[in-house]
Amino acid sequence: MENRPQWGTRAGFILAACGSAIGLGNIWRFPSTAFENGGGAFFLPYLFALLTAGIPLLILEFTLGHKYRGSAPLSYARLSKKYEWLGWWQVAIAFIISTYYAVIIAWAMSYSVFALNLSWGTDTGAFLGEYLQVAAPGEFGSLVPKVLIPLLIVWAITLGVLFKGVKKGIEVANKIFIPALVILFLIIVVRALTLDGAVLGLDAFFKPDWQALKSGEVWVAAYGQIFFSLSIAFAIMVTYSSYLPKKSDITNNAFITGFSNSAFELLAGIGVFSILGFMAMQQDMSVKEVVAGGVGLAFVVFPEIINQFPAFKEVFGFLFFASLVLAGLSSLISIVETFVAGVQDKFNVSRTKAVLFGGGLSAVISLIFATQGGLNFLDVADYFINRFGVALAGLVQVIVVVWLVKQLKPLQQHANLVSDIKLTGFLGSWWKVSLAFITPLVLGFMMFDLIRTNID
Ligand code: PFF
Ligand code: NA
Repeated sequence: MENRPQWGTRAGFILAACGSAIGLGNIWRFPSTAFENGGGAFFLPYLFALLTAGIPLLILEFTLGHKYRGSAPLSYARLSKKYEWLGWWQVAIAFIISTYYAVIIAWAMSYSVFALNLSWGTDTGAFLGEYLQVAAPGEFGSLVPKVLIPLLIVWAITLGVLFKGVKKGIEVANKIFIPALVILFLIIVVRALTLDGAVLGLDAFFKPDWQALKSGEVWVAAYGQIFFSLSIAFAIMVTYSSYLPKKSDITNNAFITGFSNSAFELLAGIGVFSILGFMAMQQDMSVKEVVAGGVGLAFVVFPEIINQFPAFKEVFGFLFFASLVLAGLSSLISIVETFVAGVQDKFNVSRTKAVLFGGGLSAVISLIFATQGGLNFLDVADYFINRFGVALAGLVQVIVVVWLVKQLKPLQQHANLVSDIKLTGFLGSWWKVSLAFITPLVLGFMMFDLIRTNID
């Protein structure tokens, strides 16, 4: 494509890449994943996965997009005619994620409004059940879920931003959302750290269970978290970097994105566990008893804790859910852009049409997840997407690029041509060994182990 859109500034690209990376995965997935998989000991597999898979793959994806100037399907097609399907597969995963990711943002949006008068009451579990109810069981009541209006708002914002394009839409949105998110979140973390019992929570969070490192599941969890969290193997980072100008420091950009995402993850872990420690102290329970994963943590436990805050409950409730909304929207925008760009490159249609078609389809499907029944479906989707979708797509991606098409060297040269940080010497060996050996071996072993344990 001759007139491919471009980011206006380098900061614009970095903010957009960080906007994609920093999302619900950081705030609501990371803290409980780390806690359940060895606590302090989880940082070991996590760091290993970040340094040997996360950042090397991020550099690879930035380079692919920059070199071939296409969405994932087009970039893979230009890498080798035979592998366009790999791009479409990743686009398909991104598409599925978008359908449930949007729903969680919609819930957070409702909850930021509920926070203003603490309308979730004292039985927050029952309130969530009520909120997700479409009709009484067995009864043909109202078929309009309460989440419909926030869901429509989420889609209106996302599609509105995408209609405006790369520079005027995505870049501008991230330049507003990300700084706002960081400020809101810092306020929450500072407050969290000064609550009674914060130390209790941090102690539980960082306490290492070294035994956990022997379990394959823990390593799977670490890789899964890194892939999901950095938005890699989803075709997104390839798409975003296809809009970079010719001279771009891609290697450096990848380091900045990777470390910012992990820094935010750590910050979220500290914030969330300080708050859980406060809760444990209030209830005279252990932190283990108050922690809950995923949906329960954000939408049941948090409202309950906010009820017990010493002061400014409404303000902190609002800040927490508003930061979920901001983090989520900037990620959703990137997910949807992935298939919008794929469709646009393939069928040569206008952005408007691609957004209407791709975004519209996802919006309609997301309605399925918006109901009580969809809630169970959501956990199942998340489970399979992370194990089989992401890990497998990541594995196939490195095997194709490194071992089948054998393009690691030219890609390295391309990265070095445009970047200030060069992949030579130690950095060069680290990059190549990570991609050619460590990542495929670990991911391959993981897949094998997963299939084995799923069979018995
Ligand atoms: N990286 C985002 C997060 O951590 O929440 C989630 C995400 C964004 C996943 C984009 C997948 C994706 F394509
Ligand atoms: Na993330």
